[in-house]
Amino acid sequence: MTYDSVETFREKRDEALQYIQQTTDQRPEYLIILGTGLGKIADKMEIRTEIPYEDIPHFAISTVEQHEGKLLFGSLAGKEVVAMQGRFHYYEGYTMNQIVFPLRVLYSNGAETMFISNACGGMNSNYRRGDIMLIRDHINMMGDNPLIGPNDDELGTRFPDMSEPYTKGLIELAEQVALDKGIHMHKGVYAAFPGPMLETRAEYRMLRMIGADVVGMSTVPEVLAAVHMEMDVLGISVITDECFPDCLDPVKIEEVLEAAGMAEPHVTNVMTGVLERL
Ligand code: HPA
Repeated sequence: MTYDSVETFREKRDEALQYIQQTTDQRPEYLIILGTGLGKIADKMEIRTEIPYEDIPHFAISTVEQHEGKLLFGSLAGKEVVAMQGRFHYYEGYTMNQIVFPLRVLYSNGAETMFISNACGGMNSNYRRGDIMLIRDHINMMGDNPLIGPNDDELGTRFPDMSEPYTKGLIELAEQVALDKGIHMHKGVYAAFPGPMLETRAEYRMLRMIGADVVGMSTVPEVLAAVHMEMDVLGISVITDECFPDCLDPVKIEEVLEAAGMAEPHVTNVMTGVLERL
């Protein structure tokens, strides 16, 4: 999905929005993207309406992921929320605009704050597999972004500022929640590569030198679209493997999944703790 004009985008957005608004009257302020580390937060939600992506006009359909994609409308920690179960990755072949289309539709439905999580490899030598990291800033090395193309001035400005993509107030709140709950959480910089291959030793070394603490294959497209729309953003990474170039072990998918499972309760606790205090 690329748009030749702002009108094409608005038409598609409005058709998707209309379908959603016919199906639910919820207009949640909080949007949660269920990436690695947050999958089970859906179990804690009181779900009122489920909408499969395939029923929503112009939503991409998740072909690679095991569970089919759907929007979950309901409440969590006393707040109205919508969760995206099933997200789209650039390496799957989706365009940047397809990846962020649901986010733009949900913004028009009232979402003002985005919670997002991901799996990543850690280059910072203080980080261990299974640790979690609050995203303080990012480096986009995907070679693409969702803001290229005609700009809808009603969504956001042509040249969005990126001095604070991750909302300072939410970072402080998340740190306070982690402290109160005794959860150990790093704070650092996330670099995004397109994937799907993992990085070479030379790439990990370079990423560390340019100031990245972790690297992954998601999140940055959604954050850029969210910041463009002036949404608040809170992001947490789960370190699923250690990427130290001088002693690098081949990544095993079972170990990645195991680390994600270990960290999941912590990510869920921090995110729900923040929601409770908002
Ligand atoms: N690199 C990129 N993405 C990842 C990694 C990694 O080492 N681990 C989990 N996702």
